[in-house]
Order: sequence, then structure tokens, then C-alpha cells
Amino acid sequence: MKAWMYHEHGSFTDVLKFETKTSLPQVKDDQVLIKVVAAALNPVDAVRMLGFFKATDCPLPTIPGYDVAGVVVKVGPQVKQLKEGDEVYGNINEKPLEDPKQLGSLAEYTAVEEKLLGLKPTNLSFPEAAGLPLAVETAYQALERCGPLDGKSVLVLGGAGGVGTLAIQLARHVFVASRVAATCSSGKLEFLKSLGVDLAIDYTKENFEELPEKFDVVFDGVGQCDKAVKAMKEGGKVVSIIGEITPPAFQHIVISDGSVLEKLNPFLESGKVKPSTQLLKRSCWGLKPKNLSFPEAAGLPLAIETAYQALERCGPLDGKSVLIMGGAGGVGTLSIQIAEHVFGASRVATTCSSGKLEFLKSLGVDLAIDYTKENFEYLPEKFDVVFDAVGHVHQISEVAQLYDDAQEVVEEVNLISDPQNATVEVINGLEVLKIAAGRCLREVEILNDYSGLLRESLRNNFGSIYRVIVDSHTAFKCLSWSWRD
Ligand SMILES: NC(=O)c1ccc[n+]([C@@H]2O[C@H](COP(=O)([O-])OP(=O)(O)OC[C@H]3O[C@@H](n4cnc5c(N)ncnc54)[C@H](OP(=O)(O)O)[C@@H]3O)[C@@H](O)[C@H]2O)c1
Repeated sequence: MKAWMYHEHGSFTDVLKFETKTSLPQVKDDQVLIKVVAAALNPVDAVRMLGFFKATDCPLPTIPGYDVAGVVVKVGPQVKQLKEGDEVYGNINEKPLEDPKQLGSLAEYTAVEEKLLGLKPTNLSFPEAAGLPLAVETAYQALERCGPLDGKSVLVLGGAGGVGTLAIQLARHVFVASRVAATCSSGKLEFLKSLGVDLAIDYTKENFEELPEKFDVVFDGVGQCDKAVKAMKEGGKVVSIIGEITPPAFQHIVISDGSVLEKLNPFLESGKVKPSTQLLKRSCWGLKPKNLSFPEAAGLPLAIETAYQALERCGPLDGKSVLIMGGAGGVGTLSIQIAEHVFGASRVATTCSSGKLEFLKSLGVDLAIDYTKENFEYLPEKFDVVFDAVGHVHQISEVAQLYDDAQEVVEEVNLISDPQNATVEVINGLEVLKIAAGRCLREVEILNDYSGLLRESLRNNFGSIYRVIVDSHTAFKCLSWSWRD
């Protein structure tokens, strides 16, 4: 199966590798095999990958990932409730720091004990569900250990984090606290208010422990236990999930437990408690279109956002003509379709290589220009909007930089195309330009970049017989051959 894996400890970017031939996990009697649809990473994955708890970790190599959402494809003989086809989610490691599984959730399949899983809330997508288990279990268990909270006040330190956003919502809706405050950085104050906090404290501007208001319960999701105890009412409780503990505070380490997920199911399905991915949806998430498979959807976002935003910035396009340079690419194919169907352009033209003309016509373009045979910029037709998804403009400026002075490029072209410096020969039926000038081919590698200028100049000087060099690659070959000769 395919999986992300590390063979030595280090940071994500240094050690995590995508592998295509890892072994499928063995399914124990009390486990199910899950076809992973979505997995999520938590801070503990990074700490583990760095090797901070080697002594209690499994041996390398490791597939990371505690959180998973997916579909049950196989059940062990002692599995009681779950069956094949169930959509489930959970934190696959009962204890995060003690012998976590070697084959984690960043893989096509993962094997998990039934007791660690819950049925995926029906209103949540797989990625939304995958982001929840470890964080929501931590928040729930830590708050539960603080005793009944109804009618009490709760302060959450780190309210904008994965655990913090859930602690706020659980305190409010599940444990029915009467007042919820939280700390966060300046940019997230509004976000916390949208979660329903009564008081959002900007930790970059205020010291929460110096405020006159004290709280029945302080939930420390940051590692500020020494300060947290100062914000506690007399007789109150402080629970911390990270860092040094200052009495009377106590620490909570999550224990993966499917029954917590089941208990929270009504709150999640009713939308009272939301995953932060859903809360942040407007900034970077969208629900997957139902008719698209996950791989189909995964190929879209960056390209389609680029195409949409770039075209949108060109102003209303209805009734206008649009030329897309690079129509066969990821961004290009989407730009063609968006220009026509979303923005209502009246005519869409595009450039592509010879083999893709039919493909682009099948996308509905009115004019497909083969850039290996024609220069779109010399066509008589001009367009209201040109979308450059190829980068010629950029390349020309690079050429100019290469030569320090764009004028020199033009001189170079003139040198190549001066009839005095060139002869024409027919070789194997191919009309070939032979260059007599010495300097011009020293820079052959940039020929592509100014082939438009060159072509124009050759046409002017030699007439139409040089159609053969319309393709800049052919031109390059011909010229370089005659030079070597
Ligand atoms: N004990 C356990 O079982 C357990 C379980 C899960 C997680 N953890 C630990 O708990 C911590 C939080 O986990 P997470 O998944 O929520 O991480 P996370 O999503 O990365 O959140 C961390 C948050 O901390 C906030 N923050 C940083 N400095 C702050 C400060 N001085 N005051 C207030 N907020 C501050 C950041 O928000 P701003 O942008 O507003 O700064 C950020 O949103 C991690 O250290 C993790 O290792 C422990």
C-alpha cells in the first residue's frame, strides 16, 4: 500500500517520505481494517517524529498519524459492533506516548481496535471528522475531570488551537458552563467570539492572570500552568495538557476512547459543536462536490482558485473574447471552462501543442492555436482578455536580464537573420538555414525565448520558405546543426 513513512527521526520536511510499497497492517482479533479516506496530524506527531519519546515509542520505520476517518473493510473475529462498510473515525493510539502504532493513519489502510472508534457523524465530511478525535477526546476528558461545570466559569488558555476551539465549545454546550473566556492572539479574537466565548483575551496585549476576574476552572492548552493557577478562583481547578504542572493544577494525558466520540455524536450531528475546519471553511475549505471522487477533487483547489481569481480580476467577461495561453495545463483547462461557463465569455481561444488541439476543442474552445506552428501574437484577431498561464513575458524579461540589456537580444536576432550571414540549403527535403555568423549560436539555449522575434525577422528577410522554423525547437535543431557543420 501507499503510505507516508520515516526511517529516522527528524523534522517532517527532512525525514517523511512517500512510499508506494509498504506492507498492509495485520488485523488483530479486536481490530478492524480501515480504508483511510482522511487522516490528520497533531503536535504529538511532530514531537514523536523528532524522537522525543524514543524510549516508549515503537521501532522505526514509522507511518505517522493518530487521527483517521475512513471506511471499515475488514473486521477481526472479536469485533462486536462494527461491520464492513461502516464509516468510522478515531484516534488509533490508546495512549499517545506509550507504544503508539508503527503503522499509523497516513496510509491507504490502518488497523485499529474497535473500542477506539466511533461512527463518523453523518453531517461531517471525512476530512472534517479526521481532524477531531485526539483533540476532542483531550478537551472532553480534561474538562470532565474538573467535575460538574454547569453554572461555572471556565477560562481556556490557547482558545484558537485544535484542542482549545473544542474545549470552548464543549465547556459551553456539553458541560453547560455559564461563562467561557479564552486567550488567543490579536488576529483570532473575532474567531473566538464566533465560537461563542463571552470574553476573548488578547494575550499579546493583556496578562490574563492579572485581570480582576477569576475562574472556577482554567483549562491550560498552552503550557502556562504557573499563571493559570493565579487566574483560578479559590477552590477552583486547573487542568493542563502541556508543560510543567504547578499545584494544585493537575495534568491530563488523553486516552483514546470511542465511547467519548459516541457521547459527543449528538452535539456534532446537531452542529452545536463544530470542527474548526468547518468554522474556518470560508477561508480555505469547501465541501467536496458529490459527483467527484476524492482524487478528482484533490486535483482542483489551487488550480481552480488561480483560474477563477485571475479571470475575475479582468472585470466582467460576459460577451468578451478571452485568449488562454497554455490551455492544456491544469490551470489552463479550468480557465477555459470558467471563462465560458462561469464568466460567460462569448469567445474563448487558447494555445496548446499539436497533440492537444482536439482535446481543447472537446473542452469547447472556439479557436485552438497550435503554438508549435503559429504565433498567436501575430494573428490578426486580438482579444479583450489574455490569460498568460505560460510565462513568456517572464521568460523574455529573464532573457533581458541574462543579456543585461534587452536591446542586445534584438541585435542577436538581427545577426542571425541577416541574409548576409545565412544561406539556405535543402537537406533531405528540409529547408535549412545555415548561419555564417560566429556569435549567434553561443546562446542557443535561450533561442526559445526570442524565437518570436527571430521568426518575424527571418520572415522579413527570407520570405515564406522558413515556415519550417515556426517550431522554435526545430529552428534550434536546424541552426545548431548548420553551426556544427
Ligand atoms: N496532554 C494531551 O493528551 C494532549 C493532547 C493534545 C494536545 N496536547 C498539547 O496541547 C497543545 C495544544 O494542542 P493543539 O492540537 O491544540 O495545538 P495547535 O492546534 O497547534 O494550537 C496551539 C495554539 O496555541 C495558541 N497559543 C500559542 N501561544 C499562546 C499563548 N501564549 N496564549 C494563548 N494561546 C497561545 C496558538 O494560537 P494563537 O495563534 O492565538 O497564538 C495556537 O492556536 C500542544 O502543545 C499539544 O502538544 C496535549
